[in-house]
Amino acid sequence: LYRARTPTSLPSFLLVGPSGSGKTSLLTVFENGSPAPTHLSQTPSTVQVQLPPSTKADSQKYRSEHDPTAKQRPKFLIIDTPGHGKLRNHAFEQLRKPQPHLKGIIFVVDSASLSSDTPGRSAAGLTEAAQYLHDILLLLQKRYTGAKSSKGPPELPVLIAANKLDLFTALPAQLVKSALEAEITRIRTTRAKGLLDSAVKDETLEEEREWLGDGGEGKFEFGQMEEVNVPIKVVGGNVIGADGSDISGWWEWIGEQL
Ligand code: GTP
Ligand code: MG
Repeated sequence: LYRARTPTSLPSFLLVGPSGSGKTSLLTVFENGSPAPTHLSQTPSTVQVQLPPSTKADSQKYRSEHDPTAKQRPKFLIIDTPGHGKLRNHAFEQLRKPQPHLKGIIFVVDSASLSSDTPGRSAAGLTEAAQYLHDILLLLQKRYTGAKSSKGPPELPVLIAANKLDLFTALPAQLVKSALEAEITRIRTTRAKGLLDSAVKDETLEEEREWLGDGGEGKFEFGQMEEVNVPIKVVGGNVIGADGSDISGWWEWIGEQL
């Protein structure tokens, strides 16, 4: 029986982020150039994508126009995962298994869900996004601190795709960055306290107690993740909008990883 196989040697990118942030919509734009209607995802799905002619891959930057390989548009895989709180095991599973071809992680966030109407209280969308991002980053940090070789694992870049910038309630990318950093700072402190409390009862929790970032007590900043080989960039865009989609900044980031 003939079965079409997905080539496993292609570079791949993992799409993660809260439910409704626009991952599957983005997948359809990556695949077809325009958005298609989506449903809440319940299982991961993989598509093969080709870099558009307008985007240069980093590996081809210095090739001359006359080099025939300069015209080859690199192919890669994008793995979409469900963002619902009860279905995130799919994303974590992808990250726990060894991924020699994984070139980066794209964390999609709904930039219009992050600002609060109540002063002094974080929006539910911000807390959810920051918690999910915190857990992903902690996993990537453990991948580094738990590595057997002295060199540590290879670089694994993260793109935070600040999506839905077409909506007037959306925070611009720079504010998405600072809002997420501030909320992760809060989460980090709460988690550490929670674990301290339970560790009194259960000594085995000791080793679980891990602090995201460089051990600093102060503010968490994405730049701290560079110490564990995880460079993070926040880039804005929109998958859907009155003037069409604008995902050029995300294409560019993908090109930089290829
Ligand atoms: P899960 O599968 O539950 O994890 O969600 P998802 O991240 O795949 O979200 P999905 O792509 O299904 O999009 C959710 C909703 O957001 C859909 O109604 C999209 O039309 C809408 N949406 C996605 N991107 C944009 C955008 O850039 N702007 C606006 N205005 N709406 C968007
Ligand atoms: Mg989806």
